[in-house]
Amino acid sequence: MLIKKENQKIWTANNPKEEEFLTQPTKLVDFDDFNKKELQELVLHMRTMMIASRGVGLSANQIGLDMKVFVAQEADEDGGYKGKFYAVFNPEIISSSKSEEEDVEGCLSVPNVYGTVSRNKSIKVKGQDKNGREIEISVKGHLARIFQHEIDHLNGILFTSKSEDAKKIDEL
Ligand code: NI
Repeated sequence: MLIKKENQKIWTANNPKEEEFLTQPTKLVDFDDFNKKELQELVLHMRTMMIASRGVGLSANQIGLDMKVFVAQEADEDGGYKGKFYAVFNPEIISSSKSEEEDVEGCLSVPNVYGTVSRNKSIKVKGQDKNGREIEISVKGHLARIFQHEIDHLNGILFTSKSEDAKKIDEL
């Protein structure tokens, strides 16, 4: 069984051991090491955890798994979700727009901290789906930002290291 008790919560930078894990690059997923059902369950679990935490993206290392995979879905204005749900294994950015855009980001693994990060406006990503099939996805705008934030996670990079104005906002 892939999902253990320690994978039922979001790991955060508030805990030194978890922070160390979050700032290490993750391992590529070798599809020979897992069966289809395990990876299906993993994606479902990550989706459930993302929704429960009201996040728009979640990487496997954020739940303590050393695997290169993230899930993402955009939120709508009413706190629900819109558009397509993505689960991308072994993602790699193969091209990105020259133009960048600044916006404020937060992260489930850095609770209550927000800061401005500059991201490429659009990117093209290659990777694999949960069945190991090669996929290519072009994303722009907020979804491109989410993808870049998650791919950074999988490379051990938290958004706070890319933001000059990240600061803690007290919970209302
Ligand atoms: Ni994050």
